[in-house]
Amino acid sequence: SSTTRRDAEGTVTVGGVDVHRIAQEVGTPAFVLDEEDFRGRARSFRDAFTEALRPYAGADVYYAGKAFLCSAVARWVDEDGLGLDVCTGGELAVALRAGFPPERIALHGNNKSDAEIRRALEAGVGRVVIDSLDEIDQVASIAAELGVRAAVMLRVTTGVEAHTHEFIATAHEDQKFGLSITGGGALEAVRRTLAADALELVGLHSHIGSQIFDTGGFEVAARRVLDLVAQIRAELDHTIDQLDLGGGFGVMYNTQHTPSTPEELARGIADIVAKECRDLELDVPHLSFEPGRAIAGPSTQTLYSVGTVKDVRLGGPHHRVYVSVDGGMSDNVRTALYDADYSCLLTGRVSDAAPEVVRVVGKHCESGDIVVKDEYLPSDVGRGDLLSVPVTGAYCYSLASNYNHVPRPPVVAVRDGEIRTLLRRETEEDLLGLDQG
Ligand code: LLP
Repeated sequence: SSTTRRDAEGTVTVGGVDVHRIAQEVGTPAFVLDEEDFRGRARSFRDAFTEALRPYAGADVYYAGKAFLCSAVARWVDEDGLGLDVCTGGELAVALRAGFPPERIALHGNNKSDAEIRRALEAGVGRVVIDSLDEIDQVASIAAELGVRAAVMLRVTTGVEAHTHEFIATAHEDQKFGLSITGGGALEAVRRTLAADALELVGLHSHIGSQIFDTGGFEVAARRVLDLVAQIRAELDHTIDQLDLGGGFGVMYNTQHTPSTPEELARGIADIVAKECRDLELDVPHLSFEPGRAIAGPSTQTLYSVGTVKDVRLGGPHHRVYVSVDGGMSDNVRTALYDADYSCLLTGRVSDAAPEVVRVVGKHCESGDIVVKDEYLPSDVGRGDLLSVPVTGAYCYSLASNYNHVPRPPVVAVRDGEIRTLLRRETEEDLLGLDQG
């Protein structure tokens, strides 16, 4: 559903607007978000999962706000009928300010403060996802103090860790999230939650990882969670009727990535869960999912202006061309942090110059400040050219920093020929304003 087009002259348009016009109006670097693409993906996930689980107890989709969140996004997600997963007081504040219906908000986090829990319960969030044994008492006592009964899910860890095309089904217990099923913490947590008057246990939660392309990891995780559901029924005489299987669906950063469609994912996971439930003689629980990257990632491209170009001799015939842009690891740290594989393209002109492999780097004082490791660009790319890096809608703005006192770029949404600023560019005054002298 992307509205990005590139014509024979190299002009790139998104939402019917030439990206050069955007660069002129808001400057570079800038995040340009295709509203139709974002909302189309949000609705596709919602439709695919509700459709696939319709024969059973149904499904809901929560957008994971950690991928990218601002008021406009919260309102779109609301209008498009999804829930919202927030994992800090800050994300919750954005959601509430945008008027997001609290009953469709889920609060996550492995170390929630009393203030975050209190604010969520006062607002009336739909669920708090409990991540540790001590948090059971923490949430229960705040709920009791407020005179409410808190709807909670327990996040369990299944030992499955999924990452891109691979998943590891054992031995990934050594991490900070959740309550271990194999270590026994999960069953104990269920017991304690059921015993707490101020808590209503609505279900179990499992999230296995991010940038996942197939359903293999979900299959193992679902089996382990459903085994626990059966054990809870047998030992505690309690029926778990809701399961959240998290997010993690992958996007195409390069041509080696082949994401499944939301329909394929939804049907695949529905079949897996239905089969496991049959084997265990359980009713299929109501399911929910929390995609972030797969909704936000492909919607956005980052525009950069080229500055210095340097051809570095590496000995013998080897050399590397460094194309420097006016942003970098402060607006996209994913290449430095995860060795992510972005691509980029020259916009606004076509060139007869032979393509050559270049490295696109930022302006920060750090040699790891790489935006795109290797990309073919025409060899005459130089100062003033405009580059676009696609698929930067997830975990780029939300992971942005002010490293080297660089202000964060704006995020503009484009739709039907209109440009709208969602988040303005930070200014030097914003940054200096923090400094108390
Ligand atoms: N639900 C839970 C409980 C999560 O922890 C996450 C992501 C999601 C949902 C959404 O996952 P998604 O569908 O976006 O993959 N900064 C990393 C990704 C961290 C993901 C953390 N949790 C990156 O840039 O790759």
